[in-house]
Order: sequence, then C-alpha cells, then structure tokens
Amino acid sequence: MEQYKKYFNANLKRWNELVNINAKSKFYDLEGFKAGKTSLLSIEKEELTDVKGKTLLHLQCHFGMDTLSWAREGAKVTGVDFSESAIQLAKTLSKELNIPATFIHSNIYDLPKVLDTTFDIIFTSYGVIGWLPDLSKWAQIIEMFLKPGGIFYIVENHPFGNLIDEKYKEEFRIGYDYFNEGKPYRFDDDVIYVDTNEKLVNKTTYDWFHPMQDIVNSLLNVNFELLFLHEFPFSFFKIHPDMKRRKDGYWEFQTFKHSIPMMFSLKARKRKK
Ligand SMILES: C[S@@+](CC[C@H](N)C(=O)[O-])C[C@H]1O[C@@H](n2cnc3c(N)ncnc32)[C@H](O)[C@@H]1O
Repeated sequence: MEQYKKYFNANLKRWNELVNINAKSKFYDLEGFKAGKTSLLSIEKEELTDVKGKTLLHLQCHFGMDTLSWAREGAKVTGVDFSESAIQLAKTLSKELNIPATFIHSNIYDLPKVLDTTFDIIFTSYGVIGWLPDLSKWAQIIEMFLKPGGIFYIVENHPFGNLIDEKYKEEFRIGYDYFNEGKPYRFDDDVIYVDTNEKLVNKTTYDWFHPMQDIVNSLLNVNFELLFLHEFPFSFFKIHPDMKRRKDGYWEFQTFKHSIPMMFSLKARKRKK
C-alpha cells in the first residue's frame, strides 16, 4: 500500500478535520443520538437483522455513532477507522453513554497487523469504498476477519449515482468516467456533505470510483456467496443541489424525474470451506 501513501495522507487530513464539523452538524444529530435515537437508517435496519449477541466489526466507523447504534441493538461491537480524531471521539462517546465497544485506530489495509479476532458480521456503510484504492485487498481483509458462515453487509453510494457532475446545479450531467482504470479523482474543494459554514483547510482529497463489477467480483473472488444486491433511487446525502431530504433521512431529486440508481446494498456470506 506504499504507493497510495500520498493519497491516504491527504484524505486522512480531511477526515481528521471533518470530525468536529460533523459532530456539530444537523446531518449527524449527535445530540439526538446521545438522547437515545439510533443513527442507523431504515435500509440497514431492515436488511441486517439478527445482530443480537453477535460480534460485529464496523469498517470505517467514523466517530462511532453507527457502531454504538448496533451495540444498542444488542451486537458486541468493534469499530475501525484511520482517523485518530474520529476514534478518540468514538471512545469518548462509548464511555459517556456507557455503551460497551472497542475502537481501533487503523487504516483498513493495516488491520491484519493490529487485530487477530474473527467476527460474525462485518458492516460498512455510506461513503466508504471511494476512499479505498484496492477492492481486491479490501475483500481479502473482510474475508480474513469473518468467521466461516459469517455475514458481510454494505450499504453505499451507487457507482452510477457517483457520476453526476455536481457543478451543474440545474441539470443532471455525467462528469466522471465509470470505467476509470483504478485512477483516483483529485478534488480541490471545500464543499462537504453536511450543513456547515466553516471553511475547510484541507481541500485536497482523492476518491476512487469503483464500478459495480469490481465491488461484486472482489467478494466473489474470495470465498463469498452473494445473498442479495439491491439498488435504490435515492441517496443518503445531498449529492446534487436538486435534492431534498425526506422524513426517513434519505435524499431524493425534486425536479429531475427519471429514476436512476443512487445507492446499493449487498449482503454476502463467507462460505464454510
Ligand atoms: C463517510 S465516513 C464513514 C461513514 C459513516 N457511515 C458515517 O457517516 O459516519 C468515511 C470514513 O472512512 C474513514 N476512512 C477513509 N479511508 C480510510 C482507510 N483507508 N482506512 C480506514 N478508515 C478510512 C474516514 O476516516 C471516515 O471516518
């Protein structure tokens, strides 16, 4: 992963900076969460059931609200993130709210160096794989940390929805390559997905736009059977100015009338042999 160091360093600076901003935002509603509200959305709550008493590893857990929400559902949780600020806040919340959880500060790709337990469930969601350059390695790591018969579940931006060019406020235009040969896109802006007036210092980030075939095949290539792949015509954040938030927390287009895939969810089981 040495070849990706420059990209990880830039992204890490952004994520460390975002922790405090996100924690204060309406989007994350930390106060509501502290008062007992779950941060999980309806899709994962309906599709990832039966977590009670199970060990659950949450990859790219940010500051742990979803991890701790799964703990409130009865799972024995471990969260991992490469942002030290995120992990620090996650640990503080776990203590303050008296919700048992383990939080590990690590890049996903370095997890084998710091963790040697296997889990019943691995969960990851909403804005994760774009930060990862190598999905084959990612799938190998997921396989490594799951027990035989264990479940991997992801709910995420759809690779098609990611192609929308956000510069065109009034119309829907494709701005990126779907087949991009693994090259990251560089972004130099301070537009972020939560409501804030703060100006970001760390403007440069690198994002990988993985096609659906790479996501699915990375898992099929390492001993997983696919249980389902679902697609949704709405988003978990305001990816385009034409979007409005619904009561259930998801965002949908107002004037753009065609239905296009904006998110997907996938559940896979690690084969016993
Ligand atoms: C959009 S957030 C996580 C989504 C989560 N649903 C949330 O909103 O709280 C993406 C997270 O991925 C983490 N991240 C990015 N690249 C990573 C990497 N290579 N290893 C571990 N964590 C990483 C960031 O620090 C950030 O906390």
